[in-house]
Amino acid sequence: MTGPGPSLPRTREEPHDQTHDQTHDQTHDQEHALTPAPEARPAARAAAIEAVEVTRSYRFGDTTVDALRGVSFTVAEGEYTAIVGPSGSGKSTLMHLLGCLDRPTSGVLRVGGRDVATLSDAELAQLRNQEIGFVFQAFQLLPRSSAMDNVALPLLYRGVKAPERRELAAAALRSVNLGHRLTHRPTQMSGGEQQRVAIARALVGSPRILLADEPTGNLDTKNGAEVMRILEELNSERGVAVVLVTHDDEVAARARRQVRVRDGLIERDTAAGGGA
Ligand SMILES: Nc1ncnc2c1ncn2[C@@H]1O[C@H](COP(=O)(O)OP(=O)(O)OP(=O)(O)O)[C@@H](O)[C@H]1O
Ligand SMILES: [Mg+2]
Repeated sequence: MTGPGPSLPRTREEPHDQTHDQTHDQTHDQEHALTPAPEARPAARAAAIEAVEVTRSYRFGDTTVDALRGVSFTVAEGEYTAIVGPSGSGKSTLMHLLGCLDRPTSGVLRVGGRDVATLSDAELAQLRNQEIGFVFQAFQLLPRSSAMDNVALPLLYRGVKAPERRELAAAALRSVNLGHRLTHRPTQMSGGEQQRVAIARALVGSPRILLADEPTGNLDTKNGAEVMRILEELNSERGVAVVLVTHDDEVAARARRQVRVRDGLIERDTAAGGGA
């Protein structure tokens, strides 16, 4: 990816905060940890998503599964976090809540400062469309639509006119090095290419937050590394807050913050003094 920032026009109205972005230019974690710029201190950053004692229970028949049992978790603007934990521990459930794809059973969830409990389904969908990009493990692309049309879909929901949709979708695809695959359908693309289309779709609307549930889970080492590079650049160059779920220790170790989920609870969070 060659500098996605300048090549991808922003649809967001608010001014691009120069000072904020500069704090993310520091690529050396060590240096970052020892001599943080004032803006880079977690306390100085606004919360993009805030979950307070959130639970989620799934009921079917007489059975209830308490997938999340009281989780408090804040995603700060511009942060890069890896969520790890055993299968069935509640990682995807948490991601779906953070991504406004689902609502908590109890507790408070605020996205962009708004309590999701106060929003209608339509308002929640709109908030998701504006603030959040979601990358699913299984891509979830429309098989009969071109890469361009897949990527442009969130903009269609947002009411962006066709010519601008095409322009933004093409720019997003170029930013993930798929400028040569605009008219290909997912069935005509490799797994790594499909995952990059899914990332382009997640970032086309210039979200503040990108949530990715095992984005490298279906990819080989080389394609996985390319996807990770794209996510890291989005974070460091554009200040997008990235939260990803991974089973890969190496992928998790590259994140500034690691959160471990077990049995529906956060067992360890390096941002809360849980150790780096
Ligand atoms: N729709 C559902 N109905 C009932 N139970 C569910 C549902 N979705 C998830 N669960 C249960 O909730 C628990 C947490 O599931 P979740 O998908 O969040 O786990 P996970 O940590 O993402 O696991 P994995 O690493 O395997 O993806 C599991 O016990 C699962 O069986
Ligand atoms: Mg999962």
